[in-house]
Amino acid sequence: MYNSQNTSILVKWIYQFSKYYISCNSFISLMTFKDLNIISMKDFSRETIDHILNTAEKLEPVARGVEKSDILDGKVLSLLFFEPSTRTRMSFETAMIRLGGRVLNLGSVEASSIAKGESLADTIRVVEGYSDAIVLRHPKEGSAQMASELVSVPIINAGDGAGHHPTQTFLDLYTIRRESHLDGVKIALAGDLKYGRTVHSLCYALSLYGAEITLVSPKELRLPDEIIYDLKKRNIKVTQTDSIEEAIRDIEVLYVTRIQKERFPDPAEYNKVASSLLITPQLLEKADPKLKVMHPLPRINEIDPRVDDTDHACYFNQSFYGVPVRMALLALVMGVLE
Ligand code: CP
Repeated sequence: MYNSQNTSILVKWIYQFSKYYISCNSFISLMTFKDLNIISMKDFSRETIDHILNTAEKLEPVARGVEKSDILDGKVLSLLFFEPSTRTRMSFETAMIRLGGRVLNLGSVEASSIAKGESLADTIRVVEGYSDAIVLRHPKEGSAQMASELVSVPIINAGDGAGHHPTQTFLDLYTIRRESHLDGVKIALAGDLKYGRTVHSLCYALSLYGAEITLVSPKELRLPDEIIYDLKKRNIKVTQTDSIEEAIRDIEVLYVTRIQKERFPDPAEYNKVASSLLITPQLLEKADPKLKVMHPLPRINEIDPRVDDTDHACYFNQSFYGVPVRMALLALVMGVLE
């Protein structure tokens, strides 16, 4: 027998199932942005990515503060970060503020009821009641997907362990488009390709643009075989090397990543590879003068600070582009833009 509570549970279940079906079984179409979860780049078609990047481009003057907008007036975004962050957290905050919305920040985990033993699932259900969307960074792979199955507001994955970091990928693609070109770009991904979630998401996205990809890493930090397999299945030219000197000569974009110390099970293994990559002005003399050097940041020892003064450096522009890109994503999933 159905009472109103059972009916409401049934409606919610059907709604959740339809969201899950969309995210698992088809590329997201241009009509389905409102309430959409942003979990993995694998869910996005090239057409949809282009639409997000075009929307970000239109919002860039607002991101720079030269135009004003209040399209997110009355909307609330909650930030739940269970791992450290500067860029992702602050650029989401900036994006909301520049568009007239408000931000709730869980703050440090120690200061929340998680310190009393409250589960992630309960925390997410509670925060749903306070927010129009939730941004989640958590060390456990699959945490954002799990959260999206619990609530009706959009979940935006800001990094799930060594899994995915899709909003970083959107801003990386935006950077490549703004500073170089996307179609058929010759790009080298260098550094920690095993644990670096930004490169995992980026590889899938680049495959939609027919990129030529060179992978540069010590053998301990190679890109997981299943991703290389997926890329080759998509007819993407993939080359692997451990020599940055070899790779630098014939590329248009060099994407450098930090060695992810926190994800190594054994610190001795980290020490073996910690200094395996350093980009210097001398190395860049061998490159195309138009080569752009990107890095999701933070950098530790991978890029010599003297590179900052060269025309190659675009990692600080890249971190700024997180603002228009996250503005676009927020405005689309909150249903104020289409
Ligand atoms: N690129 C990036 O995710 O930086 P944060 O860890 O500072 O958010």
